[in-house]
Amino acid sequence: MLQIQKILALLWQTKIKERKAYHYLQLSGLLELKEFFKIESTLNKQKKLEKKIEQKLKLKKVFITGSGNHAFELALKLLALKKTDEIILPVFTCKKLGQIIEKYCKPVFVDVTKNITVNPKEIQKKINKNTKAVIAIHLYGQACEIQKIKEICAKNKIILIEDCAHSLGLKIKNKNAGNFGDLSIFSFRKSTNLANGGFICINNAKFENKIKKLNENKSNFDLIKNLFGLKVLICKIIFGNSIKMPFLVYSSLGFKGNLINDKKLSRIELSIALIEIEKIKNQIQKRITCAKYLKNKLKEKILWTEKSNSSLMRLPVLLKESSQKNWNLFYEQGFEVGSWYYTDFLVNCKNKQKNFPVASKLANKIMPIGLDGLKKSDLNELIELIKKN
Ligand SMILES: Cc1ncc(COP(=O)(O)O)c(C=O)c1O
Repeated sequence: MLQIQKILALLWQTKIKERKAYHYLQLSGLLELKEFFKIESTLNKQKKLEKKIEQKLKLKKVFITGSGNHAFELALKLLALKKTDEIILPVFTCKKLGQIIEKYCKPVFVDVTKNITVNPKEIQKKINKNTKAVIAIHLYGQACEIQKIKEICAKNKIILIEDCAHSLGLKIKNKNAGNFGDLSIFSFRKSTNLANGGFICINNAKFENKIKKLNENKSNFDLIKNLFGLKVLICKIIFGNSIKMPFLVYSSLGFKGNLINDKKLSRIELSIALIEIEKIKNQIQKRITCAKYLKNKLKEKILWTEKSNSSLMRLPVLLKESSQKNWNLFYEQGFEVGSWYYTDFLVNCKNKQKNFPVASKLANKIMPIGLDGLKKSDLNELIELIKKN
């Protein structure tokens, strides 16, 4: 296996690709290949995946969706919103959530705590008679103060939507993330190696019948989608999650846009998801080992402690300055970094950073780093880079 990994690294020249390739080589063990070639209808596979997620993550009622955003929009549709309604969400998150809310009602952004997740006190301040829901996000996989937020929502009779897009497999005091909200949403694109997909979890029975109708699938293009699904998988192996890959290439291959990123996953994508779900626990354990090593050497530069509940989808690191120049520097050295969510924060707060003092202070310094596949030598390299920057 190591030899193949080295050859692939030589061919592709970068560590990110090497790590991704290695991950897929591990993925395609014989047992796992069986999953791909099992003759099963897409619907059966989807049901199997839903059951597996319910069992593995101890979640109530799961419905597979085309993406995390699709799951989020379904959650909003379930609320039967009026234009005057308001939905509270943290300002430090992806801009797409606010944009989706704007289609139905008004997003109300609030500041975050020092661990960059939504601040319950700020939520409380913004609640009024128009408030219909609160979005609580476990950003980068770090648990937000979900129990407090749940109590605030219950007291004010407001729906809680738990956004677990980054936190597949996260445990909060022995309970899996996704069990706290009336509705919770997940993203395979953010939390696994899949390019698409997500799911919504219904914890409040009153939404169950309605979701079945809303999430109905009428697509007849399964064969085409399977081919695109395969293409996406192959491109993921070759290019990894390259942040430099031009958007156009991404879209034409079906990474983004509407070609395959619609309301349904192909059989191949469902098979990969079935495999990925099995690996989550192990993957989180490996990330924790890496995070402990980094924390020990870098102390307060790492915005994580052993006591934090986190799936460590990304490890938040504090730099002297978080900028495109710095992200490129880390990326060129083969580390998975991105702007999660500096630029989106500026859009969300409409450039009024001063209204969000904590988020604004953190936004200038924070850089989330992916830990999957890092070896000790990589971690030492990373430590030196962080110290310099
Ligand atoms: C907090 C959060 N929620 C939801 C989503 C949507 O997930 P997807 O990319 O699968 O549509 C994202 C994606 O960036 C996200 O960061």
